[in-house]
Amino acid sequence: MDQDSLLRLLAAGNGGYISGEEISRSLRVSRTAVWKSISDLRRLGYEIEAHPRLGYRLLARPDKLLPAEVRLGLKTARFGQVVHHFNSITSTNDAARELAERGAPEGTLVVAEEQKSGRGRRGRAWSSPPGVGIWASLVLRPPLLPVQAPLLTLTAAVAGAEAIWSVAGLPAGIKWPNDLLIGGRKVAGILTEMRAELDQVVYVVLGIGINVNTPSFPTELEATATSLYREGGKQVSRRLLLQAFLERFEFWYDRLPQEAEEMRSRWRELSLTLGRRVTVISPNFTVSGLAKNIDREGALLLETENGDLVRILSGDVSLR
Ligand code: BTN
Repeated sequence: MDQDSLLRLLAAGNGGYISGEEISRSLRVSRTAVWKSISDLRRLGYEIEAHPRLGYRLLARPDKLLPAEVRLGLKTARFGQVVHHFNSITSTNDAARELAERGAPEGTLVVAEEQKSGRGRRGRAWSSPPGVGIWASLVLRPPLLPVQAPLLTLTAAVAGAEAIWSVAGLPAGIKWPNDLLIGGRKVAGILTEMRAELDQVVYVVLGIGINVNTPSFPTELEATATSLYREGGKQVSRRLLLQAFLERFEFWYDRLPQEAEEMRSRWRELSLTLGRRVTVISPNFTVSGLAKNIDREGALLLETENGDLVRILSGDVSLR
């Protein structure tokens, strides 16, 4: 039986009873099948009361990003419609890559409560403790050339910032290319990995990490990292935030590459980098200048002291 529909019915009851008969009628399954599915949901951590006469009542839902939770009320066509959930995993990007290699459809989502070896850009570690963040990766098969792939990272940053504004009501801004900051501290990061041929992207795994309800950070991160909970002083629903991210991301993604300019102007509005004097550090160079703009492919355009315009494809920006 379709677990999503059962959950939708129970959740729609808003804590009230719904009879076994009504469930079996709307879902066109036997009363025994209903009972079996209720037991399955309970095993997943749903608290459901069963009353002999009144029927079933949903008392509590697990605070986990289970597939049925992610899909409940999710307004997307593809992103997050197939979900692979793990309590603990090495890295969701690795699992998503394996799924992509085996032909997983676009929009397949891998989400974990905890990552044991979460990765950041440039081989850095990404701290991913259990139950307090969104650690998730999407399989994408974009109609883009490999040189256009950085657009995906910008798009995801826009979607992430919009999701944070709308669900947590907090002013998240984007530091080029894809860090989300609040009050100067990093609240989320994006790691995009791809397999491409010379003239075509085969697939992209786009991983996003958002520190949602993280109560505190290890000393070495304290000065540079933050969470939505720390900034806003209240717990934020990981489910609603993930859903908002998926919805905004799919919205912008479906406009690529033809309507990329709209996404870029949204990115510029949310940017903390443009108009600032910055220093970009990459393994091969360090350059300072005024951040003027991003170009069609998402590269950063810096004006140096002597007036040259330098185009930067990747690096770490420090805002001064
Ligand atoms: C960065 O800012 O350096 C990027 C951080 C990306 C972290 C996410 S969490 C989900 C996905 N799995 C990983 O191992 N990394 C990304």
